[in-house]
Amino acid sequence: MSERWTPSGWRRLPIQQVPDYPDAAALEAVERQLASFPPLVFAGEARKLKKSLAKVAAGEAFLLQGGDCAESFDEHSADNIRDFFRVFLQMALVLTFAGGSPVVKVGRIAGQFAKPRSSPTESVDGVALPSYRGDIVNGIGFTAQDRIPDPKRQLEAYRQSAATLNLLRAFAGGGYANLENAHRWMLGFVKDSPQSSAYEDLAQRMTETLDFMRAIGINPETHQEVRQTDFYTSHEALLLGYEEALTRVDSTSGDWYATSGHMLWIGDRTRQADHAHIEFARGVKNPVGLKCGPSLKPDDLIRLIGLLNPENEPGRLTLICRFGADKVGEHLPGLIRAVEREGRAVVWSCDPMHGNTITASGYKTRPFERVMKEIQGFFDVHQAEGTYAGGIHLEMTGKNVTECTGGARALTAEDLQDRYHTYCDPRLNAEQALEVAFLTADLVKRERKEHERPRIEAAE
Ligand code: PEP
Ligand code: CO
Repeated sequence: MSERWTPSGWRRLPIQQVPDYPDAAALEAVERQLASFPPLVFAGEARKLKKSLAKVAAGEAFLLQGGDCAESFDEHSADNIRDFFRVFLQMALVLTFAGGSPVVKVGRIAGQFAKPRSSPTESVDGVALPSYRGDIVNGIGFTAQDRIPDPKRQLEAYRQSAATLNLLRAFAGGGYANLENAHRWMLGFVKDSPQSSAYEDLAQRMTETLDFMRAIGINPETHQEVRQTDFYTSHEALLLGYEEALTRVDSTSGDWYATSGHMLWIGDRTRQADHAHIEFARGVKNPVGLKCGPSLKPDDLIRLIGLLNPENEPGRLTLICRFGADKVGEHLPGLIRAVEREGRAVVWSCDPMHGNTITASGYKTRPFERVMKEIQGFFDVHQAEGTYAGGIHLEMTGKNVTECTGGARALTAEDLQDRYHTYCDPRLNAEQALEVAFLTADLVKRERKEHERPRIEAAE
């Protein structure tokens, strides 16, 4: 890998998961057009997120990242965005209050369109077609026509990302997201939950705290911190032609930034050190994530960290671990020890979704208890190693879908057919997502107590 970095340098290297576009000239024309469009996010915002993530790396904040597995063109509506944002804020409130920690909020949204696939083709009843690679590449319909990669879809993905981001910015900054609203929504959830008694005590304490704040004059009208929130966007940097077209020089610092979203991550299938995706990611100054699955060896991780964060800048790199509930205890300690040995500053986050996918009643699903088991295992390993479990990364929606089994309503495999809407992997529904937040908040609290306990040096 050469030292001098350019946004197009990845094109010289081997690459995984590339769509087979039939018309190279049409693709180039779209990429040229995208390159002339305004950036979706600003470098200054990405820098601010990096600073917040540096706090997570230092054990002073917690990262909540989540959203659709794959956004779709058909489901692009204000209602969907609002419902997602609403449940996400409730989760953040629960984690902040019960966990006693500031929460850094990052959506898998406004750009999460491209999907890596385990096989280049998909077969149904003996017919094989190219796999669906996300709405930014081809159509989900099982017809030969739908599955042809169409570069024009990238323009639609850009348009949708811009519209989604616009609404999210309005929600986050315009008063909708104020703390008292989030609290009211959370109370609604607690009232309707089959496990409401488990959450009532916490909800009551939150009510008292907000009443107290109001009594002493801290309210949405008087205090900006109560009125608005910082919300960031993220997606997998998979379709590199699109990412390159939106990579720009920041006039303030002279550095390159990806402007398609605040944070980008590299997936578990495209993280080869000498391949295109790592080459692209190493040159943009945004915060970046790296998915860490069971096949990642400690030495390879250290090499990847050297490429992605050579200056050891805190907040630059988030390691998103996705081993599976039964494998986290086996794989995570080795990676943590290597990172500690090398003195690398990273955010450790847990994706409890991608290692826990099974098939039931003909549907891809994830049992809620396995999701929680992986999160629990992640915290346990960090506690044993004396390191900080810094965040969770979820596939979730604000809608009442039936895609993951279990949770307080004990969804069964038979229930999956009712409202199974995902374009790719099964997501937690709104209730399940909030339950994860309540259960994780207990773990965060335990961790913070541990963190604050004065360490007594062993005597000679
Ligand atoms: C994803 O996050 O949707 C994904 C494909 O994850 P991974 O790269 O960890 O498999
Ligand atoms: Co997924």
